Amino acid sequence: MDKLVIRGGKKLKGAVHISGAKNAALPVIASTLLAPGGSIIRNVPNLRDVSTIGRLLTNFGAEFSYKRGNAAINTKRIKTLEAPYDLVRTMRASVLVLGPLLARFGQAKVSLPGGCAIGARPINLHLMGLEKMGADIKLESGYIIARGKRLEGTSIYLDIPTVTGTENIMMAATLAKGETLIENAAREPEVVDLANALVAMGAKIEGAGGSIIRIEGVDEMKPLEYSVIPDRIEAGTFMAIAGITGSDITIQGCRNEHMDATILKFQDAGLVFENVTGGIRVTGPTRPRASDVKTLPYPGFPTDMQAQFMALMSIADGTSIISETIFENRFMHVAELRRMGADITIEGGTATVKGIPMLKSAPLMATDLRASASLIVAALASRGETVIHRLYHLDRGYEKIEKKLRGIGADIKRVKK
Ligand code: EPZ
Repeated sequence: MDKLVIRGGKKLKGAVHISGAKNAALPVIASTLLAPGGSIIRNVPNLRDVSTIGRLLTNFGAEFSYKRGNAAINTKRIKTLEAPYDLVRTMRASVLVLGPLLARFGQAKVSLPGGCAIGARPINLHLMGLEKMGADIKLESGYIIARGKRLEGTSIYLDIPTVTGTENIMMAATLAKGETLIENAAREPEVVDLANALVAMGAKIEGAGGSIIRIEGVDEMKPLEYSVIPDRIEAGTFMAIAGITGSDITIQGCRNEHMDATILKFQDAGLVFENVTGGIRVTGPTRPRASDVKTLPYPGFPTDMQAQFMALMSIADGTSIISETIFENRFMHVAELRRMGADITIEGGTATVKGIPMLKSAPLMATDLRASASLIVAALASRGETVIHRLYHLDRGYEKIEKKLRGIGADIKRVKK
């Protein structure tokens, strides 16, 4: 297994370009199942998760190819409607094929995604929404067996504004009979991006980005050519890196308007932002200020930035309180940061971080995608050589991060095994 070797303590300088958003590319690629024919999705990041959804589509009988940010997909000849355990267990987001398959073919067999490192992550709300539209859903031997000739539009209230739940129900509703209302819908920019792609395929959708989404079902959808939004979490990760190393980094290609809560919290910590053409320039302070944060659904502070923000707070001047309200087990990075000398105590979903002047390097183990990012953030600020193991977590969601970091002066290399 590959590992990363980082020599920290250097100030970084220069520009990085942000890739397309993983959490927009995955649902948009899944949505191409709604329309028979050839689609092209652009600005798709070269990630392990993208190749996984590509294999899933190929498994159904679709054609899928990826080259330099473009995914060419043809869903004309779908032979099977089964998403096997072996693929779904490597990526929970595979469940995003359920809505499109059911809507277009009236049936689907999708392996139930198990739990994951950050939480139990049930999909009861996805299934509740599809059942409310008239689908017959059974769970058999670890598989969801869904049937429904033509789904019927209806009102669906989500107890939690689930992101992929909103996306699955929205995709299914595009081909349903009549109108569907999704209430307490997720408002993430990736949900809006999917809605825009669906509209480009011929769907009738209003209100995406708000907490009520209205979908008027249509008889058919057509293939599309679409470019997905940039990755706000990757951009936020580079902001944390600028903050913890006191560096001057220009982040190109990000959409600042998707990052209000993140930027505000970084400003509280002493980072300085300047809008520049095509991006934002971030200058880190000599020492960050302690700042409390609570993760919330969008437009609140994203849970996918919690670990990176905690790494920054581990060397802040003062004590900060970090509350994780979305996932019940998203503090796996704490034990690794403590190995670097961080002073962090956890009580339930709350971490108290007493800032220390400097982290020390240590061999580390990545436990999930964003925890991996937080270890890179910490390692870049620590004295000495840090080795991060289990990079397969990182490769799921960051495209060539070590190359981008070397481009701004970081001493980082991947050691292949
Ligand atoms: C999406 O996951 C993202 N993944 C996650 O990013 C992100 O952390 C999460 O949204 C929250 O922002 C993708 O978009 C592919 P949720 P999702 O359903 O949709 C509970 C990353 O690092 N819930 O909004 O799975 C659930 O357990 C990943 O890129 C139910 O109880 O998250 C959680 O506590 C990690 N029942 C909360 O809701 C359901 O049916 C929010 O989860 C669905 C969710």
